[in-house]
Amino acid sequence: MHQLEISDLITAVEPRSGRRLPVRRAEVIQQLLESGDERAARIVAELPTDQDGALDPHAVDRLLISVHTELQRLSEELRIGERLVHLLGPLFTAIRSTTGQPGPYRLVDVGCGLGYLVRWLAATNALGADVELVGVDLDATLVGEADRLARAEGLDCRFVHGNAFDLPEAATVYVSTGVLHHFRGAALAEFFQAQAASPAHAFCHFDIAATRLAPIGAWVFHHARMRHPLGRPRRRRLRAARTQRRDTAARRRRTRHPTAAVRAARLGEPVLHHVAAGHRSAPAPGSAAPPGDGTGRTPTGRPGAPGRGHRMTSATLLALLGLIDASFSGFRAHAGRDARIRKHRATARAALRGLAVGAVLLLAPALTAAIVLLTASDRAGTFDTLAAGGLGYLLPLALYTAVVLVSLAAYFALPFRASTLAVVIGLGPLTLLRPLAIAAACLGALINGGGAPALLVGTIAGAAVLCVEPVVHRRWYHHVQ
Ligand SMILES: C[S@@+](CC[C@H](N)C(=O)[O-])C[C@H]1O[C@@H](n2cnc3c(N)ncnc32)[C@H](O)[C@@H]1O
Repeated sequence: MHQLEISDLITAVEPRSGRRLPVRRAEVIQQLLESGDERAARIVAELPTDQDGALDPHAVDRLLISVHTELQRLSEELRIGERLVHLLGPLFTAIRSTTGQPGPYRLVDVGCGLGYLVRWLAATNALGADVELVGVDLDATLVGEADRLARAEGLDCRFVHGNAFDLPEAATVYVSTGVLHHFRGAALAEFFQAQAASPAHAFCHFDIAATRLAPIGAWVFHHARMRHPLGRPRRRRLRAARTQRRDTAARRRRTRHPTAAVRAARLGEPVLHHVAAGHRSAPAPGSAAPPGDGTGRTPTGRPGAPGRGHRMTSATLLALLGLIDASFSGFRAHAGRDARIRKHRATARAALRGLAVGAVLLLAPALTAAIVLLTASDRAGTFDTLAAGGLGYLLPLALYTAVVLVSLAAYFALPFRASTLAVVIGLGPLTLLRPLAIAAACLGALINGGGAPALLVGTIAGAAVLCVEPVVHRRWYHHVQ
């Protein structure tokens, strides 16, 4: 039994007219329970209905737009636009030279959802002015939102509600991202039959490859990057991915590709690939002016306590790390909430909001350190203890930061496949590991002789840092922009 997708069950349209049909909540819950997916059934049970028990279409629409906006974040992070241009650029060059036609050519994105790919291509003009960009989706709400977003940014592309294979004008190339895995059995065969019957020159479908890494990659991506449980893979879905791997292998053996002038080739990423048919720190614990003698020796000579210069450096570095982390938290709070293509300013504003919230929250550990010092009977000794703790706190965070920087560099500098891997085994898990990094920092503070004062300040600092993202998210980005 294959895994049912909630998003596929909570909307229904009349295939010919595209007219929306009522969906009974009880029936969806029943289907999910029969497939053994209790968690999905609980999610659907929370959706509102009318008096007849049909799901409230407005609530369903809001949910779908919200989830697809978050899904777009994965497309952005995986640089889907650039990946597809890597393939589509040469494809259109070949079509231009083999057909000898002057154009215009038409790229149709089947099941475009919010139309990220089409809007990105329009914003970058990556395929050339002679390629008309069209996004098509059976879901009127998603395609309507895609159209609204494109108009808001003045992008030269259009969106059509309906079946991509029933368009009045022929497509030159069909493309899809994240669509194929929604089809199984007869529905998949039907999809390919409709495609084969079209006069298009090429088809290029990009989806999650059922590799061994896929379930892990999907889990990390969704838990690190998605807020709504609708978008998260459930355990059964991971099992289904394994089953799908076997099914896909068998299907590939069976598939006979129709011949055509130009046929897309495989890219072959480890986690994502396209199936060509027919051819995703911490702050300063605070420090007051050290009572050292300026010689670099610690006044009390406590083991692990750094000299004056080092104390200040540790404190400054911790404060800097905390503020940088806060900017990234602001960035993450905004990510997945804004589906526009050109949003550098909005992203920068989010990072600044994170920085501002971080600066305020980090006053808590600084004040705590000051109070601990001012109320201590042995201020010099307490200062040394805090300084030693600060250094011990810094070291694990420095290591964490180094790994983040290497992952970021790999993400930006390496080619697509390696860059995806940098996200899947680097940036994604590192985001999830932030609380652990802070726990390691607290342990470091203890081990280096920081004692209870440093543990207290470090814990408050860690909590402050971890609070930045939820605070910024709630204050400014609770709703889709
Ligand atoms: C998961 S969404 C993919 C959205 C988008 N491509 C993305 O990457 O975010 C799959 C969409 O495919 C649409 N779809 C499936 N078959 C279609 C067809 N023949 N014509 C148009 N849309 C189709 C569904 O309505 C659904 O919204």
